Amino acid sequence: LNRTSFPPGFIFGTASSAYQYEGAANEGGRGPSTWDAYSHKYPEKISDRSNGDVAVDQYHRYKEDVGIMKYMNTDAYRFSISWSRILPKGKISAGINQEGIKYYNNLINELLANDLLPFVTLFHWDLPQALQDDYGGFLSPHIINDFQDYAKLCFKEFGDRVKHWITFNEPWSYSMGSEPYLSSHYQLLAHAAAVKIYKTNYQASQNGLIGITLNCHWFIPFSNDTLDHQAALRALDFMFGWFMQPLTTGNYPETMQSLLGSRLPNFTEEQSKLLIGSFDFVGLNYYTTNYAAHIFQTINNTSNTSYFQDTHINFTTERNGTPIGPRAASSWLYVYPRGLRELLLYIKMKYNNPVIYITENGMDESNDPTLSLEEALMDTCRIDYFYRHLYYILIAIKDGVKVQGYFAWSLLDNFEWSAGYTLRFGINFVDYKDNLKRHQKLSAHWFRNFLQKY
Ligand code: GCO
Repeated sequence: LNRTSFPPGFIFGTASSAYQYEGAANEGGRGPSTWDAYSHKYPEKISDRSNGDVAVDQYHRYKEDVGIMKYMNTDAYRFSISWSRILPKGKISAGINQEGIKYYNNLINELLANDLLPFVTLFHWDLPQALQDDYGGFLSPHIINDFQDYAKLCFKEFGDRVKHWITFNEPWSYSMGSEPYLSSHYQLLAHAAAVKIYKTNYQASQNGLIGITLNCHWFIPFSNDTLDHQAALRALDFMFGWFMQPLTTGNYPETMQSLLGSRLPNFTEEQSKLLIGSFDFVGLNYYTTNYAAHIFQTINNTSNTSYFQDTHINFTTERNGTPIGPRAASSWLYVYPRGLRELLLYIKMKYNNPVIYITENGMDESNDPTLSLEEALMDTCRIDYFYRHLYYILIAIKDGVKVQGYFAWSLLDNFEWSAGYTLRFGINFVDYKDNLKRHQKLSAHWFRNFLQKY
C-alpha cells in the first residue's frame, strides 16, 4: 500500500487548528478568543493547567513547519483561521487587523510555493471573546450575520489562492459544552449563510469548493437485540444525521425530533432551502468506534437532560470484558480501523454518496517525561493506525465511496484542549522542554516513503 494504490489526484495531508498550534496569543494585534479566556480563568479545567498562549508557536515557525510537510511528501495542509486574529472584536465594524491577514497570506503563500494546497477551516472553536460577551456566541442568532461577514472577508482576502473551504469543524463537539441543540442549530444556519455568500459572490470567479467538517464514530449494536440495532442507528443520527440530514433534507432526523420534542429548534422553509445541498464536499473526522445499547428510561423533554440521556443509549467500549480495540492514550480513543469503512459505506448509502475528505484521523500517546527522546520518537503504533485506516479507505473507494483526500491528525504534537500538552497526537514530536524543537517521529519517515512520487 502506498500513494500509487490510490486514485490519481487523491490528496494526502496533515491537519491542525489555530488555537492548538499558533500561539502568539497576544501578538500581531490578535484579540482574545473564548479559549484564551477559558484556559486563563479556569486553569484547573486543563489537565496540566496550561493554555494556548504559546502552543507550538506556528505563528513564528510556519516556514519550518512547511518544510516538515514537504519532507513528508504531503500534498496539502489543513489549518484554521483564528477569527480574532483578523477581527479582534469579532465584527468587521469593530476593525480589521491587517497584521492578522498578513500572517495568513504569508502562510498560504509559503504553502503554495512548496506545492502544498491550503485547506482552510473558518471556525475551529476559538470564538472571539467579544461575541461571547455581547450575546452568548453560538447560543444567539446574532452569530449568523457575524460569521457570514467574517467568512466573506476570508473569501475576499484569501479566496484567490484557497480552493478548499471548511466552514465549521465538528459542530457536534463544539455544542457539547452548551445547550447542544441550540448551538448546533445556529452553527448550521451560519454555515448555510456563509456557503450562500460563497456560491453567489465568489465561487464562479475563484473556482473553489466549500464544505463542512463533521465528526462521527462508527457504532456497533451491543447485542443482536433489535433494540440495540436501533440504538446504533440512532447514535449515528445523533452524531452525524443531526447535521447531515438538515444539509440534505432541510430537517433534523426523525429519531431526534421524536425524542427531543420542542427542545429541538425548527427550521423555517426558507432556512431549510438554504441548508439543502449547501456543501460541495463533506469533511469527515473519524477516530474510533463505540458499542451502542438501548436503555429504557422515561425522560421529560422539557427538562435539561444531558445529550447522552437524550439518546437513550448506553455507549460503551467493551463487551464481556474485551475492549473493542487497543486503547490509545485518550480515554475515548479505541483503535477500530474497520469502523471507518463501515461509516463510509453508511454515508454513501444514506446520504447519496457525497464527495468526502477525511479531514482528521489519528491517535495519541501520552506525554511521558520518563521516556528518552529516542524512545518517544518510535511511534510504531501510529504507523500501524494510519496504515490500517488507509487500507479501509481504499476498500471503501473500491466500493464506490467518493473519498478524495486524507488528512492525518496531526502534523505536530500540540495543545489538546482540556488535556493540555499531556497527550501527543503529532507525527512530529515537539520538545516542550527544549524550545519547542521539532523532531520527526518514525511515522514522519513512514509517510515520506508512503507518499513518495514515483
Ligand atoms: C477537532 C479535534 C481536534 C483534536 C483531535 C484529537 O475538533 O478537530 O478535536 O482539534 O485535537 O480530535 O482529539
